Amino acid sequence: MSTSALPSSTSPTIILTNPTPPERNRTWTYSQPEWGNSLTVPEYLNREEYLLTIPLARNGGITNWILTDSAAAVNPDTTERPVLASCETLRKRALVRGKDGIVRDVWAYGIASVFTYSEFRGRGYASKMIELLREYMTAKQQESGEPAFSILFSDIGKEFYAKHGWMPLENTQIEYRVKESPVEFDASVIKLLGDEDLAALTERDEELIRREMALPNSSEVSKTRVAVLPDIDTLQWHFYRQAFICNTAYGRKPTVHGALYTSPSTGSRVWGLFERNHYGGPNKPEKNVLSFLRFVVEDSDIIDEELSEAVVGIFRAAEKEAKDWECSKVEIWNPLGRVRKIVEIAAEFESIFVVRDAKNLASLNWFGEGTAEDLDWVVNERFEWC
Ligand SMILES: CC(C)(COP(=O)(O)OP(=O)(O)OC[C@H]1O[C@@H](n2cnc3c(N)ncnc32)[C@H](O)[C@@H]1OP(=O)(O)O)[C@@H](O)C(=O)NCCC(=O)NCCS
Repeated sequence: MSTSALPSSTSPTIILTNPTPPERNRTWTYSQPEWGNSLTVPEYLNREEYLLTIPLARNGGITNWILTDSAAAVNPDTTERPVLASCETLRKRALVRGKDGIVRDVWAYGIASVFTYSEFRGRGYASKMIELLREYMTAKQQESGEPAFSILFSDIGKEFYAKHGWMPLENTQIEYRVKESPVEFDASVIKLLGDEDLAALTERDEELIRREMALPNSSEVSKTRVAVLPDIDTLQWHFYRQAFICNTAYGRKPTVHGALYTSPSTGSRVWGLFERNHYGGPNKPEKNVLSFLRFVVEDSDIIDEELSEAVVGIFRAAEKEAKDWECSKVEIWNPLGRVRKIVEIAAEFESIFVVRDAKNLASLNWFGEGTAEDLDWVVNERFEWC
């Protein structure tokens, strides 16, 4: 479609719909320069296709969307429609604790890969698509109660999505640079975590989150609390994606997904799960980051000495993995206050505390009563990113 024939974004013929496989492939081809990082176009197409086959995608877990003009002629050679903007939604298991104090299992929708071909930008298409998605979700919510809320991670600042109701909420992190020679962790107190550990740990984590959600917010008892669940499918989405990228770029897949500490006095555990994000790949390791997906302190009454041993040990293990995988930085989003303090006191990490205000802004659109800013977003951590 030539740019002179482009429809107005306010035209009533503009619709939100699902792409055919060739339309989807074309969109991925165009978005590869944006998100392919070290992957070539064929590798990127393979990865995106592959991600539609993993457990999170089962039973409509991932939906691709396009904005198109229902009045436009289809391409006679390919029968494809014009794609004015595109994105995908990922359905995630979540919990809501309402003002009545009851915790309900709900679905939340994550939005990802919001994209407009470069020659179509600045004409209001992405805004229109997000607005139609909001209308679609609100209508569905009114019909069936689902989705209860929606999240996304803005890379384009705070304003664009907030205009449509996705409000940026807590977006902090601590980060530290990976040293040439990271300090060794003590393997007698820190256990590295692999695939075989994920099922039991994610189940236990869900149990802990349900317990936490059953309690009212500590400062305002009537506050609505929401949480996306870090279940195994959600974590595996990150790990499968990571394995694909690592295998393509380095010819090997990570086997370590985190590290765990067990308290010698009570047996309670502290663990962190992490992923490597090869934004720069082998050629630009300075851009590669190891990110904690989830950090769990099983017993919030764990004594300071033990928590400190746990955090320092797990962060050392993370740094070692980061080093092995050419990542230059380790980061953890919205760390617990006690964890933050320990990392800041441990001089070896030279950590800094950052408030994100441009990229990866966790933003939430609440479809119930009140506004997103009134909510208590429990476990707002990296595992929710999509
Ligand atoms: C971001 C993007 C989807 C916008 O698409 P678009 O169809 O041009 O968007 P619209 O015309 O509806 O809206 C443009 C608005 O987005 C804002 N915007 C676009 N890119 C931006 C950026 N990088 N940072 C901040 N704001 C940005 C514009 O300033 C404009 O704001 P206005 O409505 O107040 O004038 C498009 O530029 C794109 O595909 N970029 C590359 C991929 C990307 O970054 N996606 C977002 C991931 S969260």
